[in-house]
Amino acid sequence: MARILITSGPTRQYLDPVRYLTNASSGRMGAALADAALQRGHEVVVISGPVSIDYPAAAKVIRVVTTTEMLEVTSHEFKTADGLIGAAAPCDYMPTHVESQKMSKTGHGLHLELVETPDIVATLGASKSRSQWVVGFALETEDIRFRAIVKMSRKCCDMIVSNSGDAMNSETNSVEVILRNGEIVGQFRGSKQNVAHDIVGLVQSHLIDALKPGTTP
Ligand code: C5P
Repeated sequence: MARILITSGPTRQYLDPVRYLTNASSGRMGAALADAALQRGHEVVVISGPVSIDYPAAAKVIRVVTTTEMLEVTSHEFKTADGLIGAAAPCDYMPTHVESQKMSKTGHGLHLELVETPDIVATLGASKSRSQWVVGFALETEDIRFRAIVKMSRKCCDMIVSNSGDAMNSETNSVEVILRNGEIVGQFRGSKQNVAHDIVGLVQSHLIDALKPGTTP
């Protein structure tokens, strides 16, 4: 049995107490992956941004709001985990300054100054031990396979799941699963439940079983 972390859903970056930046991630893929991993008998910890879906009751769910919070919680949990599946869509930008009171309209436009948020998958990919593994997701609209492979390398992932662009906030998904050596080990299409089941099957055979102590990766 492995202890698997799954980041899931969007994060929020507040501009003031009521307005925030976010995206349309529903958390459905994270929930489906959690379910598939639990069915294989693994211990599952979901670190989720704000979502309206339910996660499986058998998973430990830790709720966060911002990308920095998601990084802090995931880094802490990763110390005792075997691997991470980064299915979240963390908000990539945050304002340099958060107003403490609601901003009033002035009749003019508003310029926001944004900086990049920390990258959770890249941070943990760079710090993982030899027996730990990290799976990233990539959602691209052009040069899809090439960009997914570049992303896997840049974020030090052991496997990347390349999503189709219509995966966001949808019931279905179409993915290609690529290993660190560039080998394409799966192409799946269908409900997020079925696709998650197939992805976790590949995580099991290529990462969990292959990186067991005593085996040579
Ligand atoms: O760079 P991009 O956002 O396309 O990468 C997607 C992958 O990186 C996903 O696995 C996502 O969960 C992860 N990610 C992250 N932290 C961020 C942005 C993306 O872990 N701040």
